[in-house]
Amino acid sequence: MTSGSADTRVTLSDDTFKQFQRFIIEQSGLYFAREREDALMVGLAERMAATGAASAQDYFERLNDERHGQQERKALFDLLTIGETSFFRNPAQFSAFTDLVIPQLIQRSGGGKRSIRIWSAGCSSGEEAYTVAICLLETLPTPDGWTVEIIGTDINQRSLELARQGLYRGRAFRTMPPAYLDKYFHKDGDEYRINPEVRARVRFVYHNMVRDPYVPMGLGECDVIFCRNVTIYFPLDVTKRVVEKMFYSLVPEGYLFIGHAETLWLITDKYRTIEYPQTFFYQRPPVGKRVDVKVAPRPFAPLPVVAARSETAPPGRRSFASHRTAPPAVTEAFTRALGAYHRKAYEEAFEQFVRLSKEQPNLLRAVFMQGLILANQGRYEPAVDLLRQLLQRDNLYGEAYYLLGVLHQKLGELDQAVGALQKAVYVDPNVAVAHYQLGEVFRQQQQADKATRAYRNAISVLTTQPGDQFVAYSEDLTVGLLIKVCQQRLESM
Ligand SMILES: C[S@@+](CC[C@H](N)C(=O)[O-])C[C@H]1O[C@@H](n2cnc3c(N)ncnc32)[C@H](O)[C@@H]1O
Repeated sequence: MTSGSADTRVTLSDDTFKQFQRFIIEQSGLYFAREREDALMVGLAERMAATGAASAQDYFERLNDERHGQQERKALFDLLTIGETSFFRNPAQFSAFTDLVIPQLIQRSGGGKRSIRIWSAGCSSGEEAYTVAICLLETLPTPDGWTVEIIGTDINQRSLELARQGLYRGRAFRTMPPAYLDKYFHKDGDEYRINPEVRARVRFVYHNMVRDPYVPMGLGECDVIFCRNVTIYFPLDVTKRVVEKMFYSLVPEGYLFIGHAETLWLITDKYRTIEYPQTFFYQRPPVGKRVDVKVAPRPFAPLPVVAARSETAPPGRRSFASHRTAPPAVTEAFTRALGAYHRKAYEEAFEQFVRLSKEQPNLLRAVFMQGLILANQGRYEPAVDLLRQLLQRDNLYGEAYYLLGVLHQKLGELDQAVGALQKAVYVDPNVAVAHYQLGEVFRQQQQADKATRAYRNAISVLTTQPGDQFVAYSEDLTVGLLIKVCQQRLESM
């Protein structure tokens, strides 16, 4: 082991690196592969400088020291965690929470105990926990008649402090419906502060989900747990332990939401899967009921549809985006229909797209949109039929192949999913989610070599893009996060 000049970097021998790697997994779950060692080294260098440790070994001893160890571990984890988050992150999950889960909880209370307890595990700076509170305020008929307890927990002390302050800037609101800004926040200097009625319903507590007990720390009897985009940084065995412990923190029939890019497939079969348009989540089954073990593929990503195309396609490969230019005559009607689609007025949007495709038979985009709407409504078979008809008319329609692939995967038709996704990446090799999705299907088929190749292809497309940019054709995945997901998949092969 050697140590460097300490302000920005240290260099570790393989053995010392492994020693830190093992220790950090044991203590926090966070897994640093050699390829991600830079992030670890910067954190170590900062703490070594702050503590005056003469060498990495010296610092390792401090981390284990009875007097300073606990505090020092917390200080190190403050530097090693990634706190990416936003209000209403992955809106489809909050639609499911509002439209399905909260009404269930209201019904279950049956006029009796009117209390709800929700745990946001790995809450970062609080956006997720406050989003839960806003959804409850929006949906409970008489919020003041309920005891609402929302607990946000995290391992990062600085994030918890920000969460308690409840003061946010623009980027935090990027996935939030704009109307809520006026309703639940007020301006405070250049920032926005969460209103007291929301703040009062949430409390933030330090909790390390890998080391600390759950039920004895007040984290039992939860109606819902959100643990999204946290275990993505853990090795599979740690994730398995965490989601199994969460099972016992839920009431029977309680719900678990995990991240958009995560799945419990191959991790645990204790939960039942609940599918909802554009997303899925999990439920602890009622006592005494057997769980139907069901593979839960990732939901298909809604596509950022911006306009229409009506001309006949030129032969040869072309980018997905080439479908997105519209002749002016159809733009207005198309935009109106698209507005209805984005408002999730699916019936209305569907009718308008049907009318458009009758009036403009070459407007294939209108047909594609009908397929997308059916898919969003969970009507997978008719969506597949429609997309197949579309592809007979234009066999280079990349987005249609992509959506078809995801739908086949949802239907458990894995060979057909592979066929469609391979065509999607042939048409446009620069769409990272299509490579990633192909990797997911190969992984389900236990074809490790092919899955490895697909994840690597996804990474090589992604590494040409800025890390904080959103991934094209995904709802709210950032490039950096999808790279990590792919790396984690590669490591677990
Ligand atoms: C990417 S953020 C996710 C925030 C939010 N759940 C979301 O999806 O928007 C991951 C959070 O998990 C926290 N975390 C990581 N390891 C943890 C652990 N062992 N116990 C509790 N929180 C942890 C990190 O500090 C970070 O704030």
